[in-house]
Amino acid sequence: MRVAVFSCKPYDRDSFTRANGVFGHELSFFDAALTAQTCSLAEDAEAVCVFVNDQIDAHLLRCLAGRGIKGVALRCAGFNNVDLAAAHEVGIQVVRVPAYSPHAVAEHAVALMLTLNRHTHRAFNRVREGNFALNGLLGFDMHGKTVGIIGTGRIGTVLTRIMTGFGCTVLAQDQVENAECKALGVRYVDRDALLAQSDIISLHCPLTDETRHLIDHRSIPLMKQGVMLINTGRGALVDAAAVTAGLKNGQIGALGLDVYEQEDALFFEDHSSEIIQDDVLERLLTFPNVLITAHQGFFTREALIMIADTTLGNLSQLEHHEFCANIL
Ligand code: NAI
Repeated sequence: MRVAVFSCKPYDRDSFTRANGVFGHELSFFDAALTAQTCSLAEDAEAVCVFVNDQIDAHLLRCLAGRGIKGVALRCAGFNNVDLAAAHEVGIQVVRVPAYSPHAVAEHAVALMLTLNRHTHRAFNRVREGNFALNGLLGFDMHGKTVGIIGTGRIGTVLTRIMTGFGCTVLAQDQVENAECKALGVRYVDRDALLAQSDIISLHCPLTDETRHLIDHRSIPLMKQGVMLINTGRGALVDAAAVTAGLKNGQIGALGLDVYEQEDALFFEDHSSEIIQDDVLERLLTFPNVLITAHQGFFTREALIMIADTTLGNLSQLEHHEFCANIL
């Protein structure tokens, strides 16, 4: 199949080129994001392949359909950036990679927790500058703390395993109670109870109308004073302005973000020589108890191999009109 791959980074080219040895698709790689302006790059392609911040709205889908594009292959799990109803209307099939490495994201959430707790990001800089003082680096034992996990799907389940291994009590909130989590001793509670009882809250549910800004001016006051909040789900699960207020008044004691609501204007690119215009993000970056990574939760060798294999396999199934389990 002729596939135009958008929002490409060197590591995408590497992993897709390597995996494509088995599939034999004709891949064209483009650095540009897929937009109504750049879709002409797809030329005679039959499908496009995109990433998390390509906004596949109704207008773009009509442009793609007009060019004869039959498929959109998301090389990610989340699909909140695609207007699925519009895709169905114009006859474009959308496929995704539902699971590539839940371990990658869960382990990154733990990295954020441990770094924020033990201040290793600050200790790294201090020691390199000859400052061996411990003031300001006081942490807490993870053992015995209560971790609240919102969304116990693939990633939430791996995180549950890790947290129970640390000796934490795990509370969860999900419409579907996961048998493995329950066997690990997880107690399902309603969201307000989870917010009220957790020392650490970690978000692992998809972004939907119901979960948008689930952390906001209403929910933050329900949390324990000094709670640690971790978001590796989707940026818009959190109202960043409300969280900033929570950090200023001490209700939120530490914040770890791998995703950010306005990330598509910044993430995955080098803006280090520019004046960044996003005042909310810039304010968040001034807090010593905030750690932001640029959507790298998925970024492990194992995950990249799985993403390329699954995406190219999905495209082969679309090409040959075979059953595809990853169609949306
Ligand atoms: P999953 O589909 O296996 O699990 C999601 C869970 O959330 C399900 O158990 C579902 O029932 C639950 N859920 C849905 N609505 C909910 C609600 N209103 N309240 C509580 N729970 C709710 O998905 P998976 O693979 O665990 O991924 C979770 C999310 O992580 C994805 O939707 C994606 O947004 C994000 N993600 C982030 C990555 C990163 O690099 N930072 C990489 C991969 C995924």
